[in-house]
Amino acid sequence: MILAVGCDHAGFVLKAAVTGFLGGRAEVMDCGVSREEEPFDYPDIALKVAREVSEGRANMGVLMCGTGIGMAVTANKIRGVRAAACNDVESARLGKAHNDLNILTLGGRVITPDPVAPSLDTWLSTSFEGGRHLVRINRIAAAEASVLSSDSPESGRVVVFNHPLVQHKISIIRDKNTSVKEFRELVQEIAGLMVYEITRNLPLSEIEVETPVAMTTAWTLAGKKLAVVPVLRAGLGMVDGILQLIPNAKVGHIGLYRDPETLNPVEYYCKLPQDIGERDIFVLDPMLATGGSAAAAISLIRARGGQKVSLVCLIAAPEGIKKVHELHPEVDIFIAALDGRLNDHGYIVPGLGDAGDRLFGTK
Ligand code: PRP
Ligand code: URA
Repeated sequence: MILAVGCDHAGFVLKAAVTGFLGGRAEVMDCGVSREEEPFDYPDIALKVAREVSEGRANMGVLMCGTGIGMAVTANKIRGVRAAACNDVESARLGKAHNDLNILTLGGRVITPDPVAPSLDTWLSTSFEGGRHLVRINRIAAAEASVLSSDSPESGRVVVFNHPLVQHKISIIRDKNTSVKEFRELVQEIAGLMVYEITRNLPLSEIEVETPVAMTTAWTLAGKKLAVVPVLRAGLGMVDGILQLIPNAKVGHIGLYRDPETLNPVEYYCKLPQDIGERDIFVLDPMLATGGSAAAAISLIRARGGQKVSLVCLIAAPEGIKKVHELHPEVDIFIAALDGRLNDHGYIVPGLGDAGDRLFGTK
């Protein structure tokens, strides 16, 4: 485990003790400061440590200033960071168990270095409880994602599905040891669960039904026309899970692949239902990375008359959401997880690797 550690002048004495304590338990990444004397602006160090954690170079971080408050306020500006001042043991325990704090902040003017911060020890040895707390953490992630979208009232939504079943299945498909068969089954299941929720406001109309016992009125779908459009290849993996729930939806296909050098989408196929302009359209693609493929797919649909388009993805990077909403601000984006970043090859980190290869066993 790598722990990024940083302080300002007021946390310097504490940092020396904390670094010594951590040395035996983790690899310490010292982000400064290295001298106590000069007043140092804490935001610079807080941002440095927060970025190490957010971008995956450190697993967690510890920040120290006078109270721990300024460090926490600053670190929380960085995507994916959950930081709080925990100068007492119970805050540290609950901060990890319930809030999954990935940065602990301490106050050099609030606690003494001897014995070295018992709250630090507690935070390190406590596990996140998940369950209802994961639901809340995912709400925070959703709020972070929507900050990326335009403020305009016409802007599409970014909805992160935090249902425990979805989150559980997403964790399994992330695992590199999950078999192709299980991966494929789970992608279908997750897509089905997501669309079940997305369609909760479909219009209904009343009908008369004769049961074996009596006549009654009941509800039926009001005949809203739907189309699903998978982006080949990987979007294909989501289609059957959705058609099981909406068997009358029409299916279009858009073939795009990412040029491995430029990461730009290259179109090779497009066949859409003739009446696409009259349908609510769900574009399907498990991965929203740079956003190039999804944005190009939506542009193709629009050029052929498609009006009401939503995007359904399993895992997204902030860059992808931003790109789609820049080019298609009105599109609702539904995702099951928002990850931290892209790597140098345009893959989502932590992501799940190449969705097409994992679905079809091609690597
Ligand atoms: C993957 C994925 C998306 C695209 C996402 O497809 O299925 O379509 O990358 O990346 P982007 O947001 O940066 O455009 P890929 O190009 O690997 O093709 P494949 O599905 O045929 O494997
Ligand atoms: N395409 C994928 O399949 N995975 C990624 O992480 C990015 C693009």
